[in-house]
Amino acid sequence: KITPVILAGGSGTRLWPLSRKSYPKQFVPLVGEETLFQSSAKRMVGAVGTMDFAAPVVLTNSDFRFIVTEQLAEAGIDPGAIMIEPEGRNTAPAVLAAALHAQAKDPQAILLVSPSDHVIPDGDSFRAAVEAGLAAVAQGNLVTFGITPDRPETGYGYLELTGTPSGTDPVALKRFVEKPDAARAAEMLAAGTYLWNAGIFLFRAADIIAAFETHAPDLIPPVQASVTEAQPDLGFLRLDPTAWAGAKDISIDYAVMEKAGNLSVVPFSAGWSDLGGWDAVWREGARDENGVGLSGAATAIDCEDSLLRSDSDRLEVVGIGLKNIMAVAMNDAVLVADMSCAQDVKKAVDALKAKK
Ligand code: GDD
Ligand code: MG
Repeated sequence: KITPVILAGGSGTRLWPLSRKSYPKQFVPLVGEETLFQSSAKRMVGAVGTMDFAAPVVLTNSDFRFIVTEQLAEAGIDPGAIMIEPEGRNTAPAVLAAALHAQAKDPQAILLVSPSDHVIPDGDSFRAAVEAGLAAVAQGNLVTFGITPDRPETGYGYLELTGTPSGTDPVALKRFVEKPDAARAAEMLAAGTYLWNAGIFLFRAADIIAAFETHAPDLIPPVQASVTEAQPDLGFLRLDPTAWAGAKDISIDYAVMEKAGNLSVVPFSAGWSDLGGWDAVWREGARDENGVGLSGAATAIDCEDSLLRSDSDRLEVVGIGLKNIMAVAMNDAVLVADMSCAQDVKKAVDALKAKK
């Protein structure tokens, strides 16, 4: 069986005001009816070739634990475990905790680590890509999933290929470059030998633990202790806070992937989006012939290439003569910004925090 490990502890500030500290974007229906977290969980159910998915392990923090149980129940999914991080320490400690927990139960465990805030419309193609990756996993590789880049994005990891991919066969990786600066991103896009890292990983628990032992050994003692000392609490598994406090705050991309030599990539071309900002929500959502995306009580008159959205039960949003504008209304906050400033929305959150 393959155990899905769903990372659901991020805060998603670039989608303010819809995404809030108390209710971040993965738990909100951003595109369509389901929340992104629910879609992520449902994508990893059923058969993968000759294997099956086991019940998922979810990693989150204490504030979101009941949102997680409620949303899983609504989606008809029984969790294998819900592990509670005492504090967010980014994805490296979270993945290591999941791997140590899984390995203690089954030394052969295979994990599929997935973010909870992505859109992948075609679940069958996704499961086919996972199946394609299993051959590389059996050889002890850490498998990533690669997306063909179409812009010099600086918010992603880049995967340098050793050869030209043919179909969905796994390809060995020369290098993993996490979040390059703009110049380096432009170079890699132009080179044509890089894919974006989708942020989804497939490996044996034993192999990722070995990679941590080699490349991030400092994380092992605190995370191991917090798993060993974890306390069950009403269906949740609370990692030990004292031990956890000793774990460094670092992402798995920096801690392990940039350094590991045993990486492979399965190219994935069936549609993927990290809904990192409102521009991505606009791009991925329904749009009319003028490029206008409307959601909730929103009306556009003579607008082009804009997103008008009301997630409020009180406010109407009306745009006239807009171009490249995003406007998002909630009951207690309204965001109006140029589409090109989508990545700066987190500055709004910082500015509001500073005012308090
Ligand atoms: N449980 C838990 N705890 N989850 C976390 C934590 C944490 O401390 N921090 C982040 N997450 C979750 C987020 O909710 C998200 O689902 C996932 O882990 C990835 O974290 P992000 O913070 O969104 O990472 P990123 O988007 O900057 O970069 C990663 O994803 C890109 C693709 O979307 C990297 O893997 C990049 O290389 C990749 O290109
Ligand atoms: Mg992300």
